Amino acid sequence: MRIAVTGAGGQLGAALMTALGPLHTMVPLGHDQLELGSPAAIDQLVATQADLVIHAAAYTNVDGCARDPELAYRINGLGTQYVALACRRLGAPLVYISTNEIFPGDADRPYFEYDPARPINAYGRSKWAGEQVVRELLDRFYIVRVAWLFGGPRNFVRTVLRLAEQQPEQGLRMVDDEIGNPTYAPDVAAAVGALIQSNCYGAYHFVNAEHCSRYDFAQAILLAAGRGHVPVAPIKLADFRRDSTPPSFAALANCAGSAIGIALRPWPDALAAYLATLHEGA
Ligand SMILES: NC(=O)c1ccc[n+]([C@@H]2O[C@H](COP(=O)([O-])OP(=O)(O)OC[C@H]3O[C@@H](n4cnc5c(N)ncnc54)[C@H](OP(=O)(O)O)[C@@H]3O)[C@@H](O)[C@H]2O)c1
Repeated sequence: MRIAVTGAGGQLGAALMTALGPLHTMVPLGHDQLELGSPAAIDQLVATQADLVIHAAAYTNVDGCARDPELAYRINGLGTQYVALACRRLGAPLVYISTNEIFPGDADRPYFEYDPARPINAYGRSKWAGEQVVRELLDRFYIVRVAWLFGGPRNFVRTVLRLAEQQPEQGLRMVDDEIGNPTYAPDVAAAVGALIQSNCYGAYHFVNAEHCSRYDFAQAILLAAGRGHVPVAPIKLADFRRDSTPPSFAALANCAGSAIGIALRPWPDALAAYLATLHEGA
């Protein structure tokens, strides 16, 4: 297949290029090649003659989205509309990468694919606008919701390790009432590779199995990296001042993917695999 990938230079986009490159003809579209804020993106995407488009690009700065909700909508909502319109002209299915932040975070169990969306911040609203436009404009689409990605050059795991290096005695402060699924970008990329062969269009939750708090995740990172002696103090979301409010409990259940044999390993196993790659690269 000829596959165009938006956001090819991002954390997930790069993992998709690596995973799908050996099997397909890839057309990477970095931010320098494709600007989602412009309707010219439609013609640019059509010119790729892709058989399938994976739309991984987004304005992912959640605090930036809170400060400028219109920009968030222009990039994540309208930008996705341009991508979907291009797919219509190409007659190509679309994989739209969405987020756990479309959910409000007040559930007492992980969210299923069919649970109603009710985003509580500008980033979530803009990504939900993208989901809606995909459903309205296309017959053939996969909506793939992911969460708490790690694996790229800038991510939570690296931040925790850097802080532990910089302030081993002072330690870290991490929220213990924000719950999600830490998810390894290469695992999502492999799952997307399997999904696009399935023709089972619809919504999916591709997250690593099992969920935890940011506090638990930070502790697991430090332990697995041999820095278990660095103290981590639990704090509350309410004590952590930032422009965007994340949903408190936004763990996802991978029901639809599991039903067709696509399941991601538990996050502690994925974390160990990722730390091993950092070790190799050191
Ligand atoms: N990271 C997470 O924890 C997480 C959680 C849930 C959902 N997601 C979703 O997963 C997808 C991939 O996330 P990621 O972590 O790989 O994000 P990322 O590393 O921030 O990559 C996003 C890519 O989109 C590009 N981009 C930003 N604005 C653009 C614009 N106006 N036009 C064209 N390209 C633009 C960026 O280019 P520049 O860097 O050059 O601007 C970057 O290459 C996104 O759709 C995101 O919403 C991510």
